[in-house]
Amino acid sequence: MAATTQTNLENDLGYAGRAAGPCVFVLFGAAGDLTKRKLAPALFNLGKAKLLSDNFAVIGVSVDDLSLEEFRSQVTSFLPVGTESADTLEWFRKRLFYERGDFADPDTFTKLRERLASLDGEQHTEGNYLFYLATAPKFFSQIVQQLGAAALSRQENGRWCRVVIEKPFGHDLESAQALNRDIKNVLLENQIYRIDHYLGKETVQNIMVFRFDNAIFEPIWNRRYVDHVQITNAETVGVERRGGYFDTVGTLRDMVPNHVMQLLSLTAMESPVSFQADAVRDEQAKVLHAIQPLSSDDVLQRSVRGQYGPGLLGGGKVSGYRAEPGVSPESRSETFVALKLNIDNWRWAGVPFYFRTGKRLALRYTEIAIKFKRMPFELFRNAPFHKLHTNTLVIQIQPVEGISLSFGAKVPGPLLRVGSVDMSFEYSKYFGADAYTGYEVLLYDCMIGDATLFQRADMVEAGWRVVDPVLDVWRALPPRKFPNYASGSWGPAEADQLLELDGRQWRRIEP
Ligand code: BG6
Repeated sequence: MAATTQTNLENDLGYAGRAAGPCVFVLFGAAGDLTKRKLAPALFNLGKAKLLSDNFAVIGVSVDDLSLEEFRSQVTSFLPVGTESADTLEWFRKRLFYERGDFADPDTFTKLRERLASLDGEQHTEGNYLFYLATAPKFFSQIVQQLGAAALSRQENGRWCRVVIEKPFGHDLESAQALNRDIKNVLLENQIYRIDHYLGKETVQNIMVFRFDNAIFEPIWNRRYVDHVQITNAETVGVERRGGYFDTVGTLRDMVPNHVMQLLSLTAMESPVSFQADAVRDEQAKVLHAIQPLSSDDVLQRSVRGQYGPGLLGGGKVSGYRAEPGVSPESRSETFVALKLNIDNWRWAGVPFYFRTGKRLALRYTEIAIKFKRMPFELFRNAPFHKLHTNTLVIQIQPVEGISLSFGAKVPGPLLRVGSVDMSFEYSKYFGADAYTGYEVLLYDCMIGDATLFQRADMVEAGWRVVDPVLDVWRALPPRKFPNYASGSWGPAEADQLLELDGRQWRRIEP
């Protein structure tokens, strides 16, 4: 992770002048949704912040039959252009190029090589290439093989070549290992940038700063003081237009080995010895490997799955998952998962990590809550209105970005009453709202060669190792009661029972 953050990209450039070096950004799947929603706006924002080199170009590659003008219009029509950015728009537009081609056809890559060579001459991009695979996962191995065969993956004479892959990285441990093997036949690990967009979120990056740049929290960040950790990732959206894809995947695969494991590893990892990419990722990988493997019995007792039915959300009626476009009316795919995991190391032994993630829940909310242990004895238990409380530190990821700490305080007045109050910090209040997509910092880091915020092969595989036993048991025992939660609720009752059995409760999250 570069020292630059999204919120101060522009300021940072103002006094540090840290634009990335010359390169061509080759975008496979250029006509797709990701390009429009995230990648093109993020590149444009980097251009606005003068964090791209003047010697920069984008080549879009896809099977669509588009003229150069059509491609340029398609990309620029989605950009957040204000009157102040008209010059950047022109700057950016002139740097967009298009190459039509089928990813299975070696000819596409021969033409691409020629195009890149001529761009190197015209735009002085110095033979540095960033290949971004914004395609369906079935093309990942194929494109990488073709890049190798066309000699586009070589790094020689000071040139670099990096390949960015967006999840899913496989659909289970075996397929993730096969994908890693395939791409590593062509590329070195340090040429591969596996993106998890959660690492582009300010507050996710801030977990490390919070933990390792403040002396007061680390001493209590362990089994002696922490009772348990709760990670909630709640979405109000359903599967939208992705029903066909989502129904073959389900929430466990879609969210857990990647996003949830990122949140968990950053929360639970040991301090890295430096802020170098591999030092940070070594610690993340270590803690992922320390997650206690789940036996079949554990899966039955510590996992919950759910599927949303119809319900009320946002003031209106919404349909159930099985009625979504592209979803089978008998679908058994889960749209909600809760799990209890243990980490077998000195810091966390005996401290459960619970998480829940689901679609069509009551609120859009992602947070990590560290619940601390109770006081050793209760001095104020006889105080009127005394409610049992424990300290909770909450890292709010979205939509509110911030950190809050709750603690007991005396309620003013002649009687000794104790209430629970919060100290809270909100990003937007300190730093202002940011208008970034979350991809800026990730794309910029790819261009400067900083892989800290990207997943290494061992991390991806460790995530799947946690999930695989659950997939096996769930496959063998199909759910009997789907749908089992109403849209607009907090998920199936079993998710509450998961904590109640341990004498605990999910934090009540309110708007
Ligand atoms: C994606 C999943 O990776 O993350 C989606 O495929 C999910 O199903 C999305 O909705 C959630 O991302 P965010 O940033 O909205 O929390």
